[in-house]
Amino acid sequence: MKTIIEPFRIKMVEPIKLTTREDREQLIRDAHHNTFLLRAEDVIIDLLTDSGTSAMSSEAWGAMMRGDESYAGARSWFRFRDTVKDIFGFEQVIPTHQGRAAEHILFGVMVKPGSFVPNNTHFDTTRGNIDFVGGHPVDLPCKEAQDLDSDFPFKGNMDTEGLENFIAEHGADDIPVIMVTVTNNSGGGQPVSMANIREISRIARAAGIPFYIDACRFAENSHFIKCREAGYEDVATIDIAREMFSYADGCTMSAKKDSFGNIGGFLCTNDAELASQERNILIMTEGFPTYGGLAGRDLEAIAVGLRETLDEHYLDYRLLSTQYVVEHLIDAGIPVMAPAGGHAVYLDARRFLPHIEPLQYPGQALSVELYLEAGIRTAEIGTVMFGLDPQTGKEQPARLDLLRLAIPRRVYTQSHMDYVLEAIQLVWERRAAIRGMKIVKAPKFLRHFTAHFDWL
Ligand code: F0G
Repeated sequence: MKTIIEPFRIKMVEPIKLTTREDREQLIRDAHHNTFLLRAEDVIIDLLTDSGTSAMSSEAWGAMMRGDESYAGARSWFRFRDTVKDIFGFEQVIPTHQGRAAEHILFGVMVKPGSFVPNNTHFDTTRGNIDFVGGHPVDLPCKEAQDLDSDFPFKGNMDTEGLENFIAEHGADDIPVIMVTVTNNSGGGQPVSMANIREISRIARAAGIPFYIDACRFAENSHFIKCREAGYEDVATIDIAREMFSYADGCTMSAKKDSFGNIGGFLCTNDAELASQERNILIMTEGFPTYGGLAGRDLEAIAVGLRETLDEHYLDYRLLSTQYVVEHLIDAGIPVMAPAGGHAVYLDARRFLPHIEPLQYPGQALSVELYLEAGIRTAEIGTVMFGLDPQTGKEQPARLDLLRLAIPRRVYTQSHMDYVLEAIQLVWERRAAIRGMKIVKAPKFLRHFTAHFDWL
């Protein structure tokens, strides 16, 4: 059989409001040409993020009904903690209301002003949280990531030679933690191989530096290892996940991705002393250590979701349905990052709109055009997101200008994605007439969320 079916039935639906191009011209002007500032109901297909937007299962909804809302020591907490321990293997589990809260606590305890935190590629919130405490986030993507067209299977890898050189140059004392993000979201949703994780761990341990995994899309990464890395074909995806985390000293997790949560996250470590410092901050900012910023029913839903996300039929469907979109784009000659990642499709806006300079934000222009064309909401991952150094105030082109079409889990069907493909094709045909953009107003940190833009 060639057709990949969605391995679920739909039991509850949300209507989509259809708009006209004329409506959308007004709506995007009102949103200052920033897709984050649109009302969600004015969007036809929402590919802004795969975070918190997934469809929960009937099992997870059922589990929510038995949420124990006791302030301390709730049944739901133990169910959550035991599931996290079983999959991730760390001794200390600290619940938080989402991933960035875990980052904020971790970096608040570990990162001193002037110190460095290497990563394959920082996501904007890890970058922002390190900047916020005066540290320097450092991206060390592997060299293969430069070539968007090659079919290198693990473009999410870290440049481990670069990491060793960086440690030699700056000294381990100024590097409080080394991170790797699986899958590498800002680097195109590409997976990291087990060999790379093992090598980072070896380097970190030799230098005496703790090694953390930003685990948001750990199940997709684990399944990529099963599908693409020699020696893992016959290993269960859950065991691949367990092996991955066995090389690390801790992790941060947003449960809004690979666990279908609408909210949630956690921070793990094997270091009891560190965990106690982290819990002190947790109590002040998130909540008591047995619920973090979450309701008991959220803890229940996440515990169910963490098991479901490792279901290999689901993961086959998930990875193949993203690949379906990427392959159609490649066949049409449209510049897109290859091979397909897990949670998103990344158009190469710099090559899609080669007449627009990076500092005129080709990714932003393309996001506005896709909205105008078909009501599709996407997010720029490029110079708007990463071009401004908040410490020096200097702006320069990001390494890449990508437009991310993030695919919520179990939400859209193949015909929704066919509609998206048609819209991209229509914008592609009229690309020469698309203009660049300028920023009219923006804050210093995380400017992409709220900046106002206009056409040049
Ligand atoms: N790390 C990565 C790799 C992420 O992709 C995200 C969130 C976070 C950390 C922060 O987690 O949102 O729960 O606080 N990414 C979302 C996205 C927002 O659209 O990619 P959070």
